Amino acid sequence: MSDEARLVLERCDALAAVSSSPTGVERVYLSPEHARVNAMAGEWMRRAGMTTWQDAAGNQRGRYEGTEPGLPALLLGSHLDTVPDAGRYDGILGVLLGIALVARLEASGTRLPFAIEVLAFGDEEGTRFGTALLGSRAVAGTWLPEWWSLADASGTTLHEAFVAFGLDPDRVGDAAYEPADVIGYLETHIEQGPYLEEADLALAVVSSIAGARRFELTLTGVAGHAGGVPFHRRHDALAGASEIVLAVERLAREADCIATVGRLQAFPGGVNVIPGLVEFSLDLRGEHDDRRDEVWAGIQAVAADVGERRGLTLAVDETHRAPAVVASPRLRGFVREGIAATGDADPMVLFSKAGHDAMAVAELTEWAMLFVRCGNGGISHHPDEIVTIDDVAVALDAFEAAVHAVAAAHPVAARASA
Ligand code: GLV
Ligand code: MN
Ligand code: MN
Repeated sequence: MSDEARLVLERCDALAAVSSSPTGVERVYLSPEHARVNAMAGEWMRRAGMTTWQDAAGNQRGRYEGTEPGLPALLLGSHLDTVPDAGRYDGILGVLLGIALVARLEASGTRLPFAIEVLAFGDEEGTRFGTALLGSRAVAGTWLPEWWSLADASGTTLHEAFVAFGLDPDRVGDAAYEPADVIGYLETHIEQGPYLEEADLALAVVSSIAGARRFELTLTGVAGHAGGVPFHRRHDALAGASEIVLAVERLAREADCIATVGRLQAFPGGVNVIPGLVEFSLDLRGEHDDRRDEVWAGIQAVAADVGERRGLTLAVDETHRAPAVVASPRLRGFVREGIAATGDADPMVLFSKAGHDAMAVAELTEWAMLFVRCGNGGISHHPDEIVTIDDVAVALDAFEAAVHAVAAAHPVAARASA
């Protein structure tokens, strides 16, 4: 058993070595590193007994047929892309556990009353183009044409990146499933928070995922001489942005939402120059979309006040918006059964504040998720992200038991045993 878990962890390490950054892990959508990890995952999928292909949006996929060829599929997935200076397990662990699960089925000669498809999504984080979940949205059939003009930091558009990766933008629709070809989606993911570790538990079942919005904000004032311009004549964009950043934190906390300004850059960036322009990001999440949107309205009101007092103008570009989603009670019950089969009769239930591919797949089919404990206080989006081999082993057992629970309740299986 732990040989399988050890192999999963070794593969996490092998993927972490494929990075565009010499000092840490960074792998973004449609990059050379993306192509390399797709090839590695594809090889592992083949060894596990799957037929494999890269889909029209650059996601790596593998298929393990059921009791007869061509049956609708249960999808198991997560992502291979990362944030800057990432850990080794966010997304990656879920993909590798899907492959390990199929390897188990193949080794025991087990065929289920449905096919299994393992999906290694190419973009969940949105690191390169700002908009997140691009891989899983292609699969869900919710790709938007306006995304083609999104550009990365070097000005390369999504359309250009598709072509450079060897994909045909006109065919992105081919990545989408027909709903009738899918019976559901299960994702295993590290918790990215402290609750399992605090409770001394390995696994939890996910109840829902926070809705998220992301913005790129530009605050424009007037640059000028740091010595020559008196305070009463200044239009300092960084001083104004600082007021807004503090309001972001205060308003989100008051509303029980979560908000983060993760990137901020002042221009022209001279020590003796008043900042005339500030660009900053905003990531805003909440369990309830309406409360999250009220926080955004509050932030805009503060920004308007700051702008008026300081003579600054704010431009807003919303780059990502995903509604909160609730797991299917049926599939969530199977995940619960899967965890219970490993000895925890009353599994912990967690609401996910992190975003996941399941949010996008929710528009295609019903979904549920299994969370695995993160060590080090639950740290994630950080090189210190960690999981234990024992937790990986028990997660694989639970994931497999959940899939068998889906099979046992599947109409074909139910008919066969009736
Ligand atoms: C993805 O990890 C997100 O929650 O931003
Ligand atoms: Mn992440
Ligand atoms: Mn993730």
